[in-house]
Amino acid sequence: MNDKELVAYAALDYIEDNSIIGLGTGSTANIFIKMLAGKISKESLNISVVASSVISQKKANDAGLKYISIDQVTSIDLYVDGADEITQNLEILKGRGFDLIREKLLAQMSKKFIVIGDNSKIVSKIGQNYFIPIEITPIAWKITKILIEKIAKKCIVRENMEKNAFAISSYGNFVLDCEFNYSELDTLAKEIANTPGVFEHGLFLNLASLAIVSNNGQIKKILK
Ligand code: A5P
Repeated sequence: MNDKELVAYAALDYIEDNSIIGLGTGSTANIFIKMLAGKISKESLNISVVASSVISQKKANDAGLKYISIDQVTSIDLYVDGADEITQNLEILKGRGFDLIREKLLAQMSKKFIVIGDNSKIVSKIGQNYFIPIEITPIAWKITKILIEKIAKKCIVRENMEKNAFAISSYGNFVLDCEFNYSELDTLAKEIANTPGVFEHGLFLNLASLAIVSNNGQIKKILK
């Protein structure tokens, strides 16, 4: 198994029968979804799933999982998702996909949130490898961008794959990718969230209880 497969496989240990599982988005989460489907059928488990994005919803359907729409869910036992950056303090950066709000809802609502990834995700400081994604409403996006730029070093509006228009999230929003000079990540997260027009952002703080990371076949767990 490669590193992504190893961490997805390790996360299966946390699956309990008769539970509701939140499915993440991305290549690592996709592997987990397939492995979960295999475990459910092999062990005849009673598991329902809720998806963090339109893509993971499709993956769940393709894998034949029992799917519940997010607007029907009132409790989630476990959410397993990848990440873009992970620190030793379990600060997580997400949002290379677009459904930030669904990812945040699942992370916040789940009894346990496990992050899985290969060693390339480990950073000493959030923002080291990626800009911080901020989903904003298009209503007055220029104003929201100007307000965010007051606290950011640099912000760019994310473009679509064809690079001929802005990227649009599943909920019709734009995404700003921003670089910040910050000392307190908690303070930065609050400042971003308090800016008018911000729908959600990619800082997942105090939400994950465990990260499973693999480096050249060696699994390492970071616990809260
Ligand atoms: C989705 O918005 C992202 O946070 C993904 O979870 C993240 O990009 C991880 O993707 P990979 O597993 O493909 O690296």
